[in-house]
Amino acid sequence: DKIGCLFDLDGVLVDTAVYHYKAWKALANRLGFDFTEAQNEHLKGVNRMRSLEMILDWGGVSKNEEEQLELAAGKNEEYVEMISKMTAEEVLPGTLQLLEQLKAAGIKIALGSASKNSGLILERTNLAHYFDAIVDGNHVTASKPDPEVFLKGAAAIGLEPAHCIVFEDAQAGVQAAINGGMKVVGVGQQNNLQGANIVVKDLSEISVTQIIDLVNDKV
Ligand code: BG6
Ligand code: MG
Repeated sequence: DKIGCLFDLDGVLVDTAVYHYKAWKALANRLGFDFTEAQNEHLKGVNRMRSLEMILDWGGVSKNEEEQLELAAGKNEEYVEMISKMTAEEVLPGTLQLLEQLKAAGIKIALGSASKNSGLILERTNLAHYFDAIVDGNHVTASKPDPEVFLKGAAAIGLEPAHCIVFEDAQAGVQAAINGGMKVVGVGQQNNLQGANIVVKDLSEISVTQIIDLVNDKV
């Protein structure tokens, strides 16, 4: 049977998590508070407006809807300025090799990202051409851990969720994949990736054979 790979973007294919963190931290500092890297871990995979809500909550700051939209727009402006300077060098280890091998094996590849900036990032880093389908924050309403983004990704490549495997660096994303009935490869550290079927440090640690075995329940 055909299988498909659904990739998260930030923190799996490219190292943009550091830019998100910088921009959110600057916003919090302007509002007079700070948050830790451990707290930042909870923002990964979470969409822009929900991330802002969580940060304001941590700082004990309340803002109305209009102010929230303005703050989020300001953060995004700063973030876009940073990612506009990205290059192909910022593609994470093992990514190109794996995408090439998947293509050669006839395995469908889709993006399943919460980001509304995925188009810019994929262009800047030369990754766009690998994808059979792109589903990102512009196409979904529910934030991970809701499975919407991955269910739409699977549908876009014409595959059942059970025939798809998700690659995620965030706990919210791992949960989204599980909620959607998909296998998950966690990328990063085990303790931030509870429930993942396997955890790798980066994409250089996983092969096409392992992926096929995992989807076919041979692992
Ligand atoms: C996810 C990131 O990929 O995209 C989150 O892990 C981010 O940190 C979310 O908030 C939304 O990104 P953007 O680019 O639409 O603000
Ligand atoms: Mg991510």
